[in-house]
Formats: sequence, C-alpha cells, structure tokens
Amino acid sequence: MDSLPSSPFSLPLPDVAAHYLLDPDITFLNHGSFGACPQPVFERYQHWQRELERNPVAFIGRQLPDLLRAAREQLARYLGATADELTFVPNATHGVNIVARSLKLKPGDEVLTTDHEYGAVNNTWRFNCEKQGARYINQPIPTPIQDPQAVVDQLWAGVTERTRVISLSHITSPTALIFPVAEVCRRAREAGIITVIDGAHAPGQIDLDMGAIGADFYTGNAHKWLSSAKGAAFLYARADRQALLEPLVVSHGWNRQNSTQSQFFDYFNWTGTDDPSAYLSVAAAIDFQAEHNWPAVRAACHQLALVAHHRLLELSDRPPLSPESMWAQLVATPLPGRAADYQALWDRYRIIAPIFEWNGIPLVRVSIQAYNTPRDVDRLVDALTEMGTERKA
Ligand SMILES: Cc1ncc(COP(=O)(O)O)c(C=O)c1O
Repeated sequence: MDSLPSSPFSLPLPDVAAHYLLDPDITFLNHGSFGACPQPVFERYQHWQRELERNPVAFIGRQLPDLLRAAREQLARYLGATADELTFVPNATHGVNIVARSLKLKPGDEVLTTDHEYGAVNNTWRFNCEKQGARYINQPIPTPIQDPQAVVDQLWAGVTERTRVISLSHITSPTALIFPVAEVCRRAREAGIITVIDGAHAPGQIDLDMGAIGADFYTGNAHKWLSSAKGAAFLYARADRQALLEPLVVSHGWNRQNSTQSQFFDYFNWTGTDDPSAYLSVAAAIDFQAEHNWPAVRAACHQLALVAHHRLLELSDRPPLSPESMWAQLVATPLPGRAADYQALWDRYRIIAPIFEWNGIPLVRVSIQAYNTPRDVDRLVDALTEMGTERKA
C-alpha cells in the first residue's frame, strides 16, 4: 500500500457537514453523480428565484446582465480563466454538445478518446461523427495503470494523421481517475489537434487553471463537487478558438448587428427564457468553500477516500486500477464476483454508491465529501462483505 497522505484534518468536520441537506437515514457515498448542495448555497439559490418572481421583467431585463457578469468574473478567477472565455451552461453534457456539434469534420477524420469516458459524452461524439462520416475511437487505456504518463502514451498510440480532435475526461466517470490532461493538451497543440476536456468532476475536487491546462475547450460542472445548485456548469473556450463554435440553441444573439460583445457571448449568453438562479448560486458555492477552508476539507476527504479504497481492496484479489496519486475524492475499487451480486446495497442497507461492470471488472465507486464519516465507510465495507459472503454460500 502507498503511504497515506498526511492531513492535519480528518473527517468528520461537523461544522461543515451540518450544512448539507441530505436525508440522515441514508449513507450517501455518491456525491459524484449529482452533487449535494449545502444550505447557505441553496438559500442563495432560492433567494434569486424569489427575486426573479417579484418582478420577472426588471430582474431579467435590468439586473441579470450585471449579476451574470459578476458571477462569470468570480468563476473565471476560480478557474484561472477570463470571464470572456466562459459561458454558463446547464450541465457538462450541454457543454460537450456545443463543441461536438459545432466542429466541422470531414469523412475519415478521427475523434480520439479513451475507454474510460462517460456514456452521454460518447453518444454526443458518435452522433456528430456519424453525421459527418468521421470516426470516433475509444482508445483502450488498460488497467492497472502504471502512472499518468502511461495514459498519455497509450492514448497517443491511437493518434494518426487523421486525428482532428482529442476528447478526454479530466476525472473519469467509471474509474474515477485524474487524467493528465495538461500533458495531452500540450502534445495535441504541437500536433495541431483540437482538445476538448470533459471536466464534469473536476471543479471543487482539484485545483483548476485553464491557462495551465491549455485546452481549446473545457467544460465543467459546478453542481457536482463545487456543490452549487443543480443546473450550473460552464464552457470555457480559448479566445482564439471561439469562432469555431455555433449556438446549440439559436436565439437573439445569432447574427446580432452592431454588438458590443463577442460572438461567443452573443451566441451563448441568452438561449431563451430560463431560471438563472443556479448560475447565480455558483458565486455562493465558491464563497462557501472559501469560508470553510476547502483545501483542508479536500485533504481530509482524499484521505478517507483512500482508506475506503484500501479496505475495499482487501475484499478481493483484484489489483487496484491505478496508483493512488491518480485519485482525489472519488475512488473506484474492484470487487469480488459480479456487480449483480450487490444489488441489495440500497434496498437492504440504505447505502448509495454505484456498483457496475466496467471492461468486465466489477467496480464500486465511492465519493467522499465533507459530510461523510469513517462510519459511512464502515457501513459500506460491512454491507459488501455480507453480500459477498451470501454470494459464496
Ligand atoms: C465524466 C462525466 N462527464 C459528463 C457528465 C455529465 O454531467 P451532467 O449530467 O451534469 O451533464 C458526467 C456525469 O456524471 C460525468 O461523470
């Protein structure tokens, strides 16, 4: 076992955990799927909804542009970007769709990705590639992975002279791995290949600096690990790549005459009437984490995630998917038997953690957020042990 990282903090951190609105009768180890919003952030979200309903015309027509600009500026500082490079979108799926459906590909062109990608993102690219006669290639990145460089090398083995786009998760959905996206983007840029990073799980879980990552396009969710209200995400488009994008929804901003804004802003800032409160809650989510010493919370969560991983590894003879340095607050660990052996996790034990087969390996994916405790991990390990024993009986 690698040595556990030292953290001056350990979970539980009661002053933080008390803010979450989760049902106390469940063991919630799945922050990764849809996040969970702490009360001060949720209250801010509801505040904006009430402001909207008090005078919808004044709110949307007069206040909203300045509010959204301020929210974008705060998010941009958090992401190491400029506000002009960002637009809010409802979710990462939407962000990937904008890019994938904008890029013009020729028959035979290739979009390269891995076999660790999220299903809806795979579908988005396949849909677009099929329409244009291009090929979508899920390059295998076999496990156990030696180190991050192995990911770059194995992905790069799939690059050909027809590769136009590399699409890659920053933190993968089924396997929870932090992929070395900056190195991939650097090599891709040298090779003239467009990069699209799916950072659905990254904001709030790891530090982000859009300039240092160097992607052409990057989409990330605020409603997962940054814990904003649901329906808040962003699309980053580097200034020199913005002209490649088309609006997914055509509205007033298309073909705008005498605009004082960029085309990127005009295309994506207004896509029809909607509730912008989730976008405005992102500022409260950033503030909440800043007020609660989030680097320490994250370190404590990471430590407990690794404890969970090691205890779960003991249940089977299967090797870990990667070194520990490739995980943050989300870990995926192989289990004995088949994923179907553990169907009672929710109904019998009231534990929420996804268990599924990935590339023939049964995996449990564990999320650790500020509200989780070592007791939650105990419950999961005990339940899986019991179900594993029943399987053998
Ligand atoms: C890697 C990855 N990409 C994209 C998404 C889609 O996120 P959303 O449903 O917020 O669009 C997810 C959701 O879990 C994900 O894990």
